[in-house]
Amino acid sequence: MSSFICPSAHSKFAHLNKLAKTKSAYFCQSCGYESPKWLGKCPSCGQWNTFVEEVVEKPNAAIPNWKSNNSSSNGPKSTSTQRANKAVPVNSIDFAEEHRILTPDKELNRVLGGGIVAGSLVLIGGEPGIGKSTLMLQLALSMPAAKILYVSGEESDRQIKMRAERISAPQPGAAGLSGTGCFILTETSTQNIFKQIEQLQPDLVIVDSIQTLYSAHIESTPGSVSQVRECTAELLRFAKESSTPVFLIGHITKDGMIAGPKILEHMVDTVLQFEGDRHHVYRILRAIKNRFGSASELGIYEMLGAGLREVSNPSEILLSQRDEALSGITISATLEGLRPMLIETQALVSTSAYGTPQRSATGFDTRRMNMLLAVLEKRCGFRLGTKDVFLNITGGIRVEDPAIDLGLAAAIISSHEDMPISSKTCFAGELGLSGEIRAVNRIEQRIAEAQKLGFEQIFISKYNLPSGKKDKNQLDLSHYKIEIKPVSRIEEVFGLLFG
Ligand code: TYD
Ligand code: MG
Repeated sequence: MSSFICPSAHSKFAHLNKLAKTKSAYFCQSCGYESPKWLGKCPSCGQWNTFVEEVVEKPNAAIPNWKSNNSSSNGPKSTSTQRANKAVPVNSIDFAEEHRILTPDKELNRVLGGGIVAGSLVLIGGEPGIGKSTLMLQLALSMPAAKILYVSGEESDRQIKMRAERISAPQPGAAGLSGTGCFILTETSTQNIFKQIEQLQPDLVIVDSIQTLYSAHIESTPGSVSQVRECTAELLRFAKESSTPVFLIGHITKDGMIAGPKILEHMVDTVLQFEGDRHHVYRILRAIKNRFGSASELGIYEMLGAGLREVSNPSEILLSQRDEALSGITISATLEGLRPMLIETQALVSTSAYGTPQRSATGFDTRRMNMLLAVLEKRCGFRLGTKDVFLNITGGIRVEDPAIDLGLAAAIISSHEDMPISSKTCFAGELGLSGEIRAVNRIEQRIAEAQKLGFEQIFISKYNLPSGKKDKNQLDLSHYKIEIKPVSRIEEVFGLLFG
């Protein structure tokens, strides 16, 4: 009777066993804060009612890691990775430029700071339907010399093929993309993905999207905070140990944050945001964080019927072709990253039909617009308090550069007075609260771009001009053909424009 097992003892044992194996924790769905018990308010981000219980299983040694053969053959691998590092003098550290892979996409290279760094983990966020999958598939298809693995957990291989056909069709004036070297894998389990990676040995891995992956180490559902964090950690380990760059596509929530924990943004090397107005053809790829380059770079694309096209001369596209001067339109010289760009700033000022005037701005901060209006009212005596004011930056792009203040102020007054400003005039200056025009950075590049595009005069701050003292940032006016109009106060600008 040795096979007899008391049923109650068995169930008790199973229960204990389960308790010992699984562990659950509460995660804030907004910032990823972990707590052993449920909380009403997150102590980290202050959001209410965001805690959700997720089952977290302790990492189990029996589950293969990204290098399954190695870890099983030499016993516990963790000892080698937990080796303590010693402090070394900074001067004795060998330094070599990171190895970078240059892609055929010049805009992407620029945003990444000069190509893809080996072993880097790059996160690309953006609203649904903005073109993240298109951008990544296009990258995968355009590098025939490299072996690229495109992992999709969202679409079937036939759907991807359909998109690939659309992107790689030959265009007038351009040959089609070859697509050799691009491998598609529709899979969501990280362990299976790593098995395929070991077989294929790709030079670049693209994951579409991180929210669809799941790891067997964790029991919670794909897309939950703990899953996203674990899958990212596994891919990070893979990227660093094998020096293979990995691109992750991430969804963003309604308020523009990358869905899942904020911690995701901390883990990766680079965060890129793909944005734009879905009703416009232009898309902007912006670096939000970059460990290997500037975080203020920007790439511009145009979404066409056959994929994304790089826009290498943004100014010429963002300026509308017009012959006659219209009131309420000015051109501002802005800078996005290191690239100067001329954009059209438009204003419409009209008498308010209702008691409360309407104020709205597209592509510009509304609070900053209110500040501009207050300065114009107080310092220049324009009565804008009873007017509706609408501002628009054309092309559907968003500008944060304060150098467009002067252009916007001029556009507002041009519309208010119904007096057009010559289409050969442009502006670059920040407006201070007392109506002074403040200096802006990299003025030479802005002036050079305006001159290149055939503008005849540019209004800049007087404080950008050389002062008495020798200053290395001072401006040398002698070699410009464009007429430079230095101004120090906003009233002065209007005197020169409409006086
Ligand atoms: P997609 O890459 O699927 O977006 P995401 O992965 O960010 O959700 O892009 C889908 C949109 O792009 C869809 O509205 C159709 C449009 N599109 C084009 O206009 N041209 C093209 O060649 C492709 C492939 C897509
Ligand atoms: Mg997609």
